[in-house]
Amino acid sequence: MLVVAHPDHDSATWAVARAIEQGIRSAGSATATTHDLVASGFDPVYGKADLAHHRGLSGLPADVRREQEFLESAEVTVVLFPVYWWSMPALAKGWFDRVFGAYDDVSHGSPSAVRKLHLVALAGLGEGTFDRHGYKAALTTQTMHGIADYSQIGDSSIEFLYDTESKDPAIHEQLIARGYEIGAEMAQRAQPAYDRVAV
Ligand SMILES: Cc1cc2nc3c(=O)[nH]c(=O)nc-3n(C[C@H](O)[C@H](O)[C@H](O)COP(=O)(O)O)c2cc1C
Repeated sequence: MLVVAHPDHDSATWAVARAIEQGIRSAGSATATTHDLVASGFDPVYGKADLAHHRGLSGLPADVRREQEFLESAEVTVVLFPVYWWSMPALAKGWFDRVFGAYDDVSHGSPSAVRKLHLVALAGLGEGTFDRHGYKAALTTQTMHGIADYSQIGDSSIEFLYDTESKDPAIHEQLIARGYEIGAEMAQRAQPAYDRVAV
């Protein structure tokens, strides 16, 4: 399943999401479902109902449960988001807060039902800026250790696609080509491990 946190279907983020869908479909072995977080109207604000559930005082909010059902139906979840202020946008952060947070409610430390997670962070600026200031390391630690490891997701990864605002068509083509490859890799990753061993 692809989860996309971007409001504009003409954006680089959505172009890469479509390339990933194509890459998955071309592999023939897996199906791609895309969840448009903006169009779905998902409310990212961690509110009173979330807190009441967290404290064991009430049931899970229905919209959060719906998101969890999407996640539980997927072998692999790919989350695409643009980098805003060297981090993820509020919509994506709120989705993690509410949906992943709810797996951890009541019996703290319970594993999330997410099996495999790949994050794709699209950045307007270049890799040099991210490396120089430690932004890549910061976002990687925060998401891979802080979210995926904490949620006991055994198979998780993140990658950064840089220079998304470049006017150079070659860069745009590289982004799309990488999206297509990601799709093929995710289709492979969705297979049980024994299918991936060459015999
Ligand atoms: C509010 C806002 C904050 C942004 N912050 C960053 C940033 O911290 N670093 C960066 O490289 N790009 C930043 N950008 C650029 C986005 O990452 C860029 O729009 C994104 O990579 C994807 O392009 P797209 O909007 O065409 O999908 C920001 C853009 C916006 C609108």
